[in-house]
Amino acid sequence: MVLPIVTDPNPLLRQKAKPVKKVTKRIKKLAQNMLETMYAADGVGLAGPQVGVGERIIVIDVGEGPIVLINPEILSRTGEERDVEGCLSIPGRNGYVTRAARVKVAGLNLEGRKVELEGEGLLARAFQHEIDHLEGVLFIDYLPAEAGRVDR
Ligand code: NI
Repeated sequence: MVLPIVTDPNPLLRQKAKPVKKVTKRIKKLAQNMLETMYAADGVGLAGPQVGVGERIIVIDVGEGPIVLINPEILSRTGEERDVEGCLSIPGRNGYVTRAARVKVAGLNLEGRKVELEGEGLLARAFQHEIDHLEGVLFIDYLPAEAGRVDR
């Protein structure tokens, strides 16, 4: 099921998401719906708050197959890379954001087992962008203030 995507400036995007206590049927269904929503919107990642769910779950597909990560954490970051970023919750805007070039992340998979994943390039960027969403952080927070725009 394709879910409605919450867009900026909805306050739901600014709340810190809560840890998922247990990977239940509801969480599995949510992950499936988030993937469908992401694909329907032509995105490469989506986080719980973007579909109005304040729980720590992200989905990503940068063209290498779907990834679902529950309670994700960044274990290490190396290097630096500057590239253009956008967000399904901020339609029509993009900008250059400097991120770590490679990250190692940990979290739970849909079986509730702890997994560790590594990513570089777009995948590393997607992990950092989506995990930011769980802290209420949006990519526009990293952009320089624009003329006439009230900065947060
Ligand atoms: Ni986003």
